[in-house]
Amino acid sequence: MEKLPASLGLLVFLVLLASCRRVEQASSQTAGASIALPPPRYEGKMSLERALLERRSLREYRDEPLTLAEVSQLLWAAQGITHPAGLRTAPSAGALYPLEIYLVAGEVDGLSAGVYHYLPEGHQLLLKLTGDPRRELSHAALGQSSVAEAPAVIVIAAVYERTKVKYGERGVQYVHMEVGAASQNIYLQAESLGLGTVFIGAFHDGRVSEILHLKADEHPLGFDAGWKEAAFGEEAVVNPGIDGETKLPSRWKNQKPGMTRPQPWLGSGRDRLGKGK
Ligand SMILES: Cc1cc2nc3c(=O)[nH]c(=O)nc-3n(C[C@H](O)[C@H](O)[C@H](O)COP(=O)(O)O)c2cc1C
Repeated sequence: MEKLPASLGLLVFLVLLASCRRVEQASSQTAGASIALPPPRYEGKMSLERALLERRSLREYRDEPLTLAEVSQLLWAAQGITHPAGLRTAPSAGALYPLEIYLVAGEVDGLSAGVYHYLPEGHQLLLKLTGDPRRELSHAALGQSSVAEAPAVIVIAAVYERTKVKYGERGVQYVHMEVGAASQNIYLQAESLGLGTVFIGAFHDGRVSEILHLKADEHPLGFDAGWKEAAFGEEAVVNPGIDGETKLPSRWKNQKPGMTRPQPWLGSGRDRLGKGK
């Protein structure tokens, strides 16, 4: 048999090596594995004011995976550590930090599909479950398609006891307030990255706990689906409210003052998952 030319042999060797590496990377993500996240960036392309102005709950998405850097930034915005004393991006009553953040990764570059626990210390993920529970999660959220279709979903769960130890029953309210703060951080960070998100509050708590194998003292309080924002066309309209020159995102071009946006989550009762993906 004729020998392969040396350069072709080297090429074949390099291709085989690269594919082995990919398999190694995917299979190394077994339950319990920790994955270091890219460090968060502290500078962005959008001012805080612009993010506040443009933030909307978005339920349309582009069919593209999220990058690990985007996911890292969203998780950091939710509960990242920002002070040597362990203080975080979101305020917490008594700095007791009752929130636990889970990432349900469906299509995230560099992550195999699974449920990951975000560990603010060390800014890393711990793989909790392998597999893709987004459709199940969507069913638990009354069939909301945004949950099934988002490349990633961030679930905010709470351990009430951490706060109740100090504040008694009042601690329950504090925990709920903290979910709002963490969720708004995710919204603003998503906007600044050009991503879309929507906070999901309508779901069956027990089903979500089962699907994600939450611990007995962890209570799911909301999710934020995350994805690349859908393209809404090129034109922008002039914002009459701020100044004559401010451009509004074009997705607002059909938005008339006083117009009520449809609420797909209240829906027609039709299971939107039926359309499949
Ligand atoms: C506590 C809470 C629960 C919500 N639950 C859902 C939900 O289950 N599904 C959904 O599509 N939107 C949900 N939303 C998003 C609201 O529909 C949205 O914030 C509202 O329509 C205002 O639009 P905006 O966020 O673009 O300003 C929820 C918002 C909050 C604050």
